[in-house]
Parts: sequence; structure tokens; C-alpha cells
Amino acid sequence: MSQHPAIAIDGPAASGKSTVARRLAQDWQLTMVNSGAMYRAVTWEVLRRGLDPEDTNVVVALLPQVSWGCQVRDGQTVMTVDASEPSMSELKSDAINAAVSIIAAIPEVRALLVSKQRDFLTLGPLVMEGRDIGTVVFPDTPFKVFVTASEEVRRQRRAAEGADDAVEERDRRDSERKTSPLRVAEGAVIVDSSTLAIEDVVAQVKEELIKLGWQA
Ligand code: DC
Repeated sequence: MSQHPAIAIDGPAASGKSTVARRLAQDWQLTMVNSGAMYRAVTWEVLRRGLDPEDTNVVVALLPQVSWGCQVRDGQTVMTVDASEPSMSELKSDAINAAVSIIAAIPEVRALLVSKQRDFLTLGPLVMEGRDIGTVVFPDTPFKVFVTASEEVRRQRRAAEGADDAVEERDRRDSERKTSPLRVAEGAVIVDSSTLAIEDVVAQVKEELIKLGWQA
């Protein structure tokens, strides 16, 4: 089983990390994986079944009852939950925004999804974005980036997308959970996108990765 290099992009909600990851994937022909979609798909199924996301035992009991699939198709992370394929807009609903951090704090959910995330390394060179990619999923990669932006800018970005997303609350939960909290990984390059145009953010990230030895 061959292993390929991986670029880990982490950061809080609406920091710009997805856009950066998408651009790196396009420009450098990498497989891109949006790991947040995987936590959203588990949350989607919990809510669809009318289960309480706060009831950890019930959520953990659900995990082996469902076949969770994860693929990359046309550059998009596609999740299958048994025979269903929730769309990205379904996965970004307000109800999921409100519950996903509760589900993502459950260690058994993380163990299941981290192992699926590591399986993507067999496909080819990879860029994966999330919260714990540099700290937990691929701690040995030298290619780690932490994209951030001020709270105010992040709130404005989400509001401009029309999403009812309490980003501060989500980030607080993601940063304070016991298992794999959002942290800057050791050795990660930090890029603040608050006052930069996206082109400049992408250019800065590329420059830093090349300095770290990435062969574009
Ligand atoms: O990237 P996103 O905003 O779509 O992620 C949704 C949630 O999933 C996020 O609030 C926390 C969780 N998440 C996580 O805990 N670890 C990851 N690697 C990616 C996402």
C-alpha cells in the first residue's frame, strides 16, 4: 500500500481554509478531502433518526449500525450513509451547524472518521482540511498550515453566505473538547486571512509549503 504526501490545513470555521485547500488541489492536482463533511454526515444521520446529539451513548451505539462511506468525486467529498447520499447543502443546514460540534467531541466518532481519513493517503497526493489534521490525522507530515482570521471577519463571512452559524460557539466547543481540540500543530505555518484577498492567502500558503520542501 503506497503512501503519498499530505498537506494538512487546519483552522477555525470560516477562516478561509476550505478555499485555500480547494485552490491547492486545483493548482497542484491533489485529491482534496473536506473532513468536516464527515462529521456533518454523522450529525445528519443522528438528526434524521430523531436522536439526541447530546446523548453520547445513543450516538456511539448508532455508529456500527450504519455503513459510513466516504469518497472523493469530481473534487468533492461525498459521504454515503447506508444507501443515502446527503448533499453538501443538506450537510450545511442550520440544524447541523448547531449540533456538529457536539457530535465531533465524541471520541468514538473521531476514531471512526480519523481512520477513514488516513485511508485517503493511498489515493495519491492529498490536501485535507479540518481541525486536527496536522495534530492527529497526519502528525508526521511536514506540510502543515493553520489558517485563521479574526472573529469579526469570520462572522461576517458566514453571514454573507446566509448561514445561521454561531461560529464563536462552534469554535469554543471545537477548541475546548478533550479529544483532539482545535490547536495549531507543532511546526505549522500560521496564515491570517483577515485582511488579505484570497489570491494573496493562496500565494502565501503555496510559498510557505514550497519552503517546507513541497514539490509543486
Ligand atoms: O469544516 P467544517 O466547519 O465543515 O466542520 C464542521 C465541524 O466538524 C466543526 O465545527 C468541528 C468538526 N470537525 C472536527 O472536529 N474535526 C475535523 N477534522 C473537521 C471538522
